[in-house]
Amino acid sequence: MPRAIPIIGHLHLLGQYEVPYQAFKVISKTHGLIFRLKLGVVPAIVVNGLDNIKEVLFVKATDFDGRLNLSRYNDLFSGNRENSLAFCNFSNLQKLRREILQVHTFPRNFSSRFLKLDSIIHRELNQLKSNLKGDNPLPNFKVHLFQEMVRHYDSVFYEMNQGYASDFLPWLSYFQTKSHKKKLSLASKSIRAFVMEFLMNERIAKYNKKQTRGDNEEEDYVDSLLDSVHSSVDIDKVNMDLNTALFSLEDIVGGHTAISNFIMKTLGFLVNHPNVQAKIQEEVDAMTLNARPVTLADRKQMPYTEATILESIRMITSPIVPHVATQDSSIGGFEVQKDTMIFLNNYDLNMSPELWNNPDKFQPERFINTEGRIAKPEHFLPFSGGRRSCMGNKMVQLISFSTLASLLQSYDLNKLCGHNYKVRIGDLALPYETFQFEFKPRQCLNC
Ligand code: HEM
Repeated sequence: MPRAIPIIGHLHLLGQYEVPYQAFKVISKTHGLIFRLKLGVVPAIVVNGLDNIKEVLFVKATDFDGRLNLSRYNDLFSGNRENSLAFCNFSNLQKLRREILQVHTFPRNFSSRFLKLDSIIHRELNQLKSNLKGDNPLPNFKVHLFQEMVRHYDSVFYEMNQGYASDFLPWLSYFQTKSHKKKLSLASKSIRAFVMEFLMNERIAKYNKKQTRGDNEEEDYVDSLLDSVHSSVDIDKVNMDLNTALFSLEDIVGGHTAISNFIMKTLGFLVNHPNVQAKIQEEVDAMTLNARPVTLADRKQMPYTEATILESIRMITSPIVPHVATQDSSIGGFEVQKDTMIFLNNYDLNMSPELWNNPDKFQPERFINTEGRIAKPEHFLPFSGGRRSCMGNKMVQLISFSTLASLLQSYDLNKLCGHNYKVRIGDLALPYETFQFEFKPRQCLNC
């Protein structure tokens, strides 16, 4: 174990780098692939190396499927982090929540859900493009309420992605400003009010009518959740009540923030790489002959666009949410006590010069093999794996594919004078004020 400082332990080591996870590689050179850290009051273990990481995620998944009990996670989810999909411990309820969600966020190619998603994306992108043209946005919709809800989600997402010294030195949270806590609590309450008014109330009424008619057809995820709330079958002694269902819905609606933050960062990379934009445009033009919009069905024939998304995910290197040991166990022969926090160093898996050529360069080609197909190396695990793996993996890839391809089909993306386009890596979240771009309509290639 590296030398620790009284009270703060090893916290100071993480603060010395642009991305805290960079410290893990440096320390591993002298202390081995797996080492202990004391972060304030929290005992932690850092796990480097693909085999060790796979041991945690897959081989001994049940020993390491917990999450850290941080008071700010509890604060964000009505005093109980078990309401959250990402910060709860694993349980039968979490297993059920993941199962219900899976069919909706991983739609099978060309299934009815896949086609529905395609048409929703198409509608939204048309709206976006007419907004870019300066047309009036959504005339019949309460735009200000929608925008306010998006802002609230953005601030909650930003908060969840931050690491604070008070996470490890809990007494520091007394010094956290009351206005900060109040702002987040207001954000959570407003999100609930929005979800009830615009997503749930009408649907509950509709669901009840359908039940009386004996109609069991499921429209979407909301119906699946309501089915589960009304289910009399006691699966593994799990009780999904309406409140739990609402938190699940809010969590997943919040996925839009992750995707939009990711797309903004990707546009940041693209504005710095006009050559990549040009190659995506070449691919889109060849696919659509400029005669039709891009569809999700085009994705498999557009490897360069898909590779650009993977390259952006690689370079952003969002960390794997730390796991926690739920029992005494071991990793790579290294003893681990129950309640130890586990950092899985995917920064190194994404950025190591031993695993990638020129890892600091934005080069989508690295994900295309000699046959022109997408090839992902085994050590590329941006969505993690196993029982706590990301539930938004496929949605991210589908929605960002259509958005990038469709925007670049119509526009060149340019920098604005005097603006800074450095993409911060190491996490997904962006502050609210972020990049601004010029979307310059492309010359019509058929004219
Ligand atoms: C580029 C965007 C995204 C990246 C890189 C990403 C990556 C991750 C990672 C690494 C984890 C932690 C896995 C683990 O602990 O082993 C995670 C968890 C999770 N992600 Fe994502 N994610 C993204 C977007 C999304 C979106 C859009 C959604 C929702 C639609 C989503 C839903 C979730 C959920 C629910 C969990 C918690 C799963 C659990 O703890 O059981 N993610 N994500």
